[in-house]
Amino acid sequence: MQNKLAQLTDLAIEEFKQAKGRRELYDIKVKYLGKQGQFSVIMKDMAQLPKEERPVFGKVVNEKKNLLEQFYSEQEAHLKKIELEQKISSERVDLTLPGPKRTTGGHHPIALVINDIVMILSRIGYSVRLGPQIEQDWYNFSALNIPADHPARDLQDTFYIDPSHVLRTHTSPIQIHTLENEKLPLRILAPGAVYRCDSDISHSPNFHQIEGMLVDKKVSMADLKGTIVFLLQNLFSTQIQVRFRPSYFPFTEPSAEFDCTCPLCKGKGCRMCKQTGWIEIGGCGLINPKVLEATKVDGEEWQGFAFGLGIERMAIIRYGIEDIRWFTENDVRFLEQFTS
Ligand code: DAH
Repeated sequence: MQNKLAQLTDLAIEEFKQAKGRRELYDIKVKYLGKQGQFSVIMKDMAQLPKEERPVFGKVVNEKKNLLEQFYSEQEAHLKKIELEQKISSERVDLTLPGPKRTTGGHHPIALVINDIVMILSRIGYSVRLGPQIEQDWYNFSALNIPADHPARDLQDTFYIDPSHVLRTHTSPIQIHTLENEKLPLRILAPGAVYRCDSDISHSPNFHQIEGMLVDKKVSMADLKGTIVFLLQNLFSTQIQVRFRPSYFPFTEPSAEFDCTCPLCKGKGCRMCKQTGWIEIGGCGLINPKVLEATKVDGEEWQGFAFGLGIERMAIIRYGIEDIRWFTENDVRFLEQFTS
């Protein structure tokens, strides 16, 4: 029986050595050392031995079992190490491969134009103010000297929230908030979204304007024109020319519209400028004394100028964009052209 035991042990060790994985190794352990295993069978056979031989044999069986347990542990540790090494080498990252492409966000062309205008005019002392997009009638119209029967208030143009509140139709109401609340003199820029009931290839119900206002002791049309020329030459090129045309706005007196030579064809005439060589940019003028009066600013002491222009129009000219609706469609193929 001792012989049989020795053979069994050798066989088990041999099988342990052959095992290719931990699962297989464990199954072999169960086969020999488990409850129903080969060693249990031998223990049962022990009953056939003479009584005095049994303890000796039992001791040898235990020694062999311990030997196998220890061999099992060593083999298991060995296989575990091999498995880990295989895992590491199969999951190794090839650092020479190109990394996954990251798409980075960029600024919207409208934001780019606003930022540029703010950067340019901040160099001559302007800083930014913002206002609410839902305005009281007073700020959007009355204080700007736009009387109740003025066509600009027409239901067709203005989105009314209720009889005394509108979605602001221009950024000019920020002039009023500023004049009511701030100390003079001042120079402000007020960019933001505005709303009008209008929609086609060149009109969007939601678009953007930027408003400029300067208030000081002595202000002239020459100051205004110098500021507009400074802005447009920095925005487009020093080559462009600027012209003022007499116009009418209720909140300025005198009023003008300003144009610049078409930055695309340099004034020769093209599709963008409808062959005229000139592009209309915005409106401006000296602040109407009625606006100063409405905001309780002493018109004897203070004067000012204001101007306003459409941002979409600037972006259209600058980037040659054909349809105003592209600005709000959120097509990434359109938007990613402006990331710089
Ligand atoms: N608010 C005018 C509009 O939306 C633009 C404008 C004209 C603004 C003259 C001004 C200005 O500040 O002086 O059409």
